Amino acid sequence: MSAMNVPLLDLKLQYAQLKEEIEPVMRKVAEDQWFIMGPEVKALEEEIAQYTGAKFAVGCASGSDALLLALMALNIDGIRSGSRPKVVCPSYTFFATGGSAWRLGIDPVFADIDPVTYNMDIEHTKQLLDQHPDIKAIMPVHLFGQSFDMDEWTKLAEERNLPLIEDAAQSLGTKDDQGITVGSRGTIGCFSFFPSKNLGAFGDAGAVTTNDPELAEKLSILRVHGGKPKYYHRMVGVNSRLDALQAAILRIKLTHLESWHDQRIQNAANYDQMFQSQGALTNETPIAQEADLQIRTPKGVTGKARHIYNQYVIRVPGEIRDDLRKHLSENNIGNEVYYPVPLHMQECFAELGGKEGDLPHSELAAKETIALPIYPGLTQEQQQYVADTVVSFVRAHTPTSV
Ligand SMILES: Cc1ncc(COP(=O)(O)O)c(C=O)c1O
Repeated sequence: MSAMNVPLLDLKLQYAQLKEEIEPVMRKVAEDQWFIMGPEVKALEEEIAQYTGAKFAVGCASGSDALLLALMALNIDGIRSGSRPKVVCPSYTFFATGGSAWRLGIDPVFADIDPVTYNMDIEHTKQLLDQHPDIKAIMPVHLFGQSFDMDEWTKLAEERNLPLIEDAAQSLGTKDDQGITVGSRGTIGCFSFFPSKNLGAFGDAGAVTTNDPELAEKLSILRVHGGKPKYYHRMVGVNSRLDALQAAILRIKLTHLESWHDQRIQNAANYDQMFQSQGALTNETPIAQEADLQIRTPKGVTGKARHIYNQYVIRVPGEIRDDLRKHLSENNIGNEVYYPVPLHMQECFAELGGKEGDLPHSELAAKETIALPIYPGLTQEQQQYVADTVVSFVRAHTPTSV
């Protein structure tokens, strides 16, 4: 196999393509010396609202803060109330989903995932809502860039009279089964512009979306310490202001986002074909079931839905996953495990009583999944090298492979 270098993400490549467009706006911010909030942030907010189809977008410092602000705006707070309210969220997600709740004195109740889509399992969530009548919000995650079923989840939230907080940190531009962009149907949508996201800043940044004018107003006050007018506080917020520099960069990048989504979708289709032509099945068949090749590609979406592939995640047998990672790294192929420890098994949440065996689908996904390079600009040749390296390793290390 030819020696090749395939990073997990190549932001230098993206920057080289955008330099001519981005450097003038960075210079303008430097010349204006208006660094915090201001017209660039306002313009970005309008453009994000328009892009998602939500009535309002409010910029903030990160996706983690977006979640925090969402909970604060909904008055779900265990610090001041003296009680420990609860929210339900998935266990198999980035830490911030549960961590944001914990920081407000809220106990996250962790639901298992649907093993096929990796998104939060609605039947398990219903059971948890029955068991914990003190749950104050439902917080599913559009994981890896794929929407959860918005029809089902909005219906559930309405039936239970609970707010639906969409953790759409990985999913700006993702469309649900109705072809509707995520972050526009829930009570509040939370987005991250962390550099590795499809729309990534030059640092941390985030946004919240909502259709509710009162919530939008409250969110915009909470991110500036809760003061409006400045120095007059009816509430206590946080410092989660968005930098003008980030907003200016994001506005340029937003004009390229659709083409980046298209390239990621094309790359995913290429991998699907490369793996499936060798005998891989989709994630609808568990690894436990024997197959010619013990690799499972993402299920993908059909109809009006759009998966934006912030991550392209395959499954392999848990016993060989970490060796495969090592092998890929030795062959200069970037890879990552999202996420090796489900939240119910994180040490910091031990007092919630979660233990191994509680959420089998989350635990299995944590052992079997591995993310491969999928960024725009990845060549077919690079993809073939990644696929061939993965396939040959899996074939050589799984006795059930033929
Ligand atoms: C599902 C999910 N939620 C929340 C966040 C937090 O976003 P940020 O890193 O911008 O704070 C992330 C970011 O990685 C995420 O993937």
